[in-house]
Amino acid sequence: MADSTNLFVGSKVLITGGMGFIGSNLARRLIEQGAEVVLVDNLIPEYGGNLFNMDGGEGKFRLNIADVRDEHTMRYLIQGQDYLFNLAGQTSHLDSMHDPFTDLDINSRAQLSILEACRKYNRTIKIVFASTRQLYGRPAYLPVDEQHRRRPVDVNGINKMAGEEYHILYNDVYGIRACILRLTNTYGPRMRIKDARQTFLGLWIRLILEGKPFEVWGGPQLRDFTYIDDAVEAFLLAASSEDVNGQVFNLGGECVINLKGLADLLVEVNDGGQYVVRPFPPDRKTIDIGDYYGDFGHIRSTLGWEPKIPLREGLSHTLTFYKTHLQRYT
Ligand SMILES: NC(=O)c1ccc[n+]([C@@H]2O[C@H](COP(=O)([O-])OP(=O)(O)OC[C@H]3O[C@@H](n4cnc5c(N)ncnc54)[C@H](O)[C@@H]3O)[C@@H](O)[C@H]2O)c1
Repeated sequence: MADSTNLFVGSKVLITGGMGFIGSNLARRLIEQGAEVVLVDNLIPEYGGNLFNMDGGEGKFRLNIADVRDEHTMRYLIQGQDYLFNLAGQTSHLDSMHDPFTDLDINSRAQLSILEACRKYNRTIKIVFASTRQLYGRPAYLPVDEQHRRRPVDVNGINKMAGEEYHILYNDVYGIRACILRLTNTYGPRMRIKDARQTFLGLWIRLILEGKPFEVWGGPQLRDFTYIDDAVEAFLLAASSEDVNGQVFNLGGECVINLKGLADLLVEVNDGGQYVVRPFPPDRKTIDIGDYYGDFGHIRSTLGWEPKIPLREGLSHTLTFYKTHLQRYT
């Protein structure tokens, strides 16, 4: 199994989207491991960035409140870095349908300009790019492996797909080491819970803690969930290996569950709560992918990664975090 312990001591790390859910949890682990961490984030309120995500870490990292679409800023920030964890993204599927060009600019065009900055100013950087299972669209078979055809059901999936391809191209043509992690539903402390822009589960958690009923759309759809600590481990392992360069890896969950089952589990772990089952709103139905769960055999055989935190335990940690910090996220 790959090992990332000690690898990052004294290394220079740039995280785009570093004040967001996954970026901030990753930053915290890298700081603990002795890395010199620079975060870049535009902190647009509709996205998942939140200053409180790095609470307690003041003085241990550098934050640039900047936009990855700004080529000049990125040119400056890329220089001298050993690792780039490239996580900045517009994550809302529905927003990508209402405002496709913003999604295009962030998830596709900006990715190309980041890679151009690497090509011109830092060819030895090593990149891990956060992609999404959304680009598979509606599964033709389950579990979905990396060979499954890609047929996104929304603009976000298409732009993330282009973002991936640019990384692989720059790996293959210019030797700028890059690999792709295709994330599935990731959850845990520091996720966006204000609304369902990042994930429906965030909104469920907010409402249950506010003592309000949450809505389950549909109910029988199958899903897998990765707890944040497991996702962070995958990023660290990917950065620590040379075998991953130019490759794409699914992440996955430790179990498969349908949405109604998840709602019941959340109520049980919370010791109370209510939900109502409703049909999908029409604009959501057209971009829903139905059942999905991923095959993470490729990352398991290459890096020894597998999801370790059981869903029940992950939900419990998440509820505990938001019971203390709810007002920082609503
Ligand atoms: N959370 C999930 O379940 C999930 C699933 C699949 C893929 N992903 C991918 O993982 C990455 C991180 O997601 P997350 O869940 O942490 O979401 P997030 O919204 O919490 O984090 C993304 C961060 O990027 C920042 N950002 C967005 N556009 C920016 C820009 N133009 N310039 C600078 N910063 C910008 C946001 O402010 C935010 O802090 C994203 O690329 C997302 O597509 C996440």
